[in-house]
Amino acid sequence: MGQDAIEFLLGQHQQVERLIDQIKTASPESRRELFDELREMLAVHETAEELVLRPVTKASGETGKRIAEQRIAEENEAKQVLADLEKLDPESETFLTEFGGFAADVLKHATNEEQQEFPLVCRENDAARLSKLGSAMVKVEKVAPTHAHPSAKSAPVTLAMGPFASLIDRARDAISAALKD
Ligand SMILES: [Fe+2]
Ligand SMILES: [Fe+2]
Repeated sequence: MGQDAIEFLLGQHQQVERLIDQIKTASPESRRELFDELREMLAVHETAEELVLRPVTKASGETGKRIAEQRIAEENEAKQVLADLEKLDPESETFLTEFGGFAADVLKHATNEEQQEFPLVCRENDAARLSKLGSAMVKVEKVAPTHAHPSAKSAPVTLAMGPFASLIDRARDAISAALKD
């Protein structure tokens, strides 16, 4: 079950990576819609990690605490950069340049999670805790299905658009509610 939770997050990382590639190669007119889909995907993904994964990482001794703090710092940094990106016109060259830097940071963050955090969580937790993590992710999947996005028009969850900070707030409400069920 715990492994399922990690697979769920890995599946989302792949989706994020795919969207980033699409944005880089899309026509300028198509970038806005794809960028909105990426913002929505990231809001759900980072919130699921914050609410479900991070408490487990923090409970994995001193190493877990340090790894959790590093990942949270990276996520906060990405939120800042994303807020700046949102002020730019997605059709502009400036956007594409700035987006390249943002995308590199997001992918580096995902790699750090995959290489440091996920293996630690799998190694350091007993079956009962991992099973709890797995069932929490099943609930999150109901809010944000991992494999449902054949086109830019069907985002995994419809949070309605707005600044990233408000997407995060809505994702937090939706996921918290799902976790209480
Ligand atoms: Fe993350
Ligand atoms: Fe992640």
